[in-house]
Amino acid sequence: VEQLDTARPEIRPAGGRRTTKVAVVGAGAVGSTMAYAALMRGSARTVALYDINKAKVEAEALDLAHGIQFMPMAEVVGSDDVAVCTDADVIMITAGAKQKPGQTRIDLAEATIGLVSKILPELLAVAPDATYVMVTNPVDIVTYAALKISGLPPTQLFGSGTVLDSSRLRYLIAEHCGVAVQNVHAYMAGEHGDSEIPLWSSASIGGVPLLDWTGIEGRGPLTSADRDEIAHEVVNSAYRIIEGKGATNYAVALAGSRIIEAVLNDENRVLPVSTLLDDYYGISDICLSVPSIVGRHGCTDRLAVPLSPVEIKGLQHSANSLRSVARKFGY
Ligand code: LAC
Repeated sequence: VEQLDTARPEIRPAGGRRTTKVAVVGAGAVGSTMAYAALMRGSARTVALYDINKAKVEAEALDLAHGIQFMPMAEVVGSDDVAVCTDADVIMITAGAKQKPGQTRIDLAEATIGLVSKILPELLAVAPDATYVMVTNPVDIVTYAALKISGLPPTQLFGSGTVLDSSRLRYLIAEHCGVAVQNVHAYMAGEHGDSEIPLWSSASIGGVPLLDWTGIEGRGPLTSADRDEIAHEVVNSAYRIIEGKGATNYAVALAGSRIIEAVLNDENRVLPVSTLLDDYYGISDICLSVPSIVGRHGCTDRLAVPLSPVEIKGLQHSANSLRSVARKFGY
C-alpha cells in the first residue's frame, strides 16, 4: 500500500480500494440511530459521529463500538473535533433544532440555518469532496441555504427530502391493500412537510397502476377516500409520533442509510431526495423532492415522472410555499 499523505496509512481492503466512510453530524436521536442503522446494514466500513457535546458523542460511539462483533465488520469513531469527519465519502447532517409537539418543521428554520452556516465551512475544510446530505429540518429550506453557503453543486449537496415520507406512503398502501411493501412503488413529492403531495398517478403495485387496483382476495380496492385518508396520515405522521415519544428517529435513520448506500455503492437508485430544481414542470430555484437518481456522483438526474394536472398544481404550490420561507431568511 503506497504511503498516503495522511497522518495514518489508509486501511485498504483487497483490490486496493479505499475503505468507505460516512460521517454523521449530530449525535442526537436521529444521528445516533442513523449511525446504528448504517452499521447494522453494513452501509460503510467506517462510521464517524461528530457532535459538539464531547461526552455524548464519545458515549454514543463507544456504545456502538461495543456491538461491532454483532454487525458487519466496521470501525466506529466519535469526537467533538470536526477532524473525525476527515475524508468522509458521505456526510449526513442531522444536527439542528428539535421539533417539539405542536411545532411545524418550518418553525425550526432560523435555528437550523444558523447552525448549518457555522458547521458547513468547518466540514468542507476536512471533507471537500464528500457528498453532503442534509437531514435536519426544515430540510428543503436548509438544503437550499446550504447550497448557497457552501457553493457546492446541487449534485454534491442535497437533502433527505421525502424519502421517509414515501416510505410512510408505501407502508400505508401496503397495509391497506394487503401486499408486501417492497412491491409498492409510490412517491411523496414536494416539501418534506405539510405541503407535500402523493403522486398517485404514477404509483403501482407489482406493475398494476394503483388507480386501476381492484384489490386481492379479501382486500378491497383503494378508493379515492382511502387515498385521501392515507395522504393525510402521511403528512401528519411525524406530529403523531412526536406527540407520543418526543421525536422520530428510526425510519428517518433507515431512510438516511438507504441514501448512504446509494452513494457508496454507486447504485443509481431512484430516491425522492430534495434537490435544487431547474425548470422541473416549470419549477426552478428552490429545493424540493422529486424522484431522482442517486449514485456515487451524488444526485445526478431528476426523473420526468408523468404528473396529473392536480399533481403539477400541488408541486407548484409546494414550491411557492417553500420559496416564500427561503426568501424570509434571505435566500
Ligand atoms: C419526520 C422528521 C424527520 O418526518 O421530519 O419524521
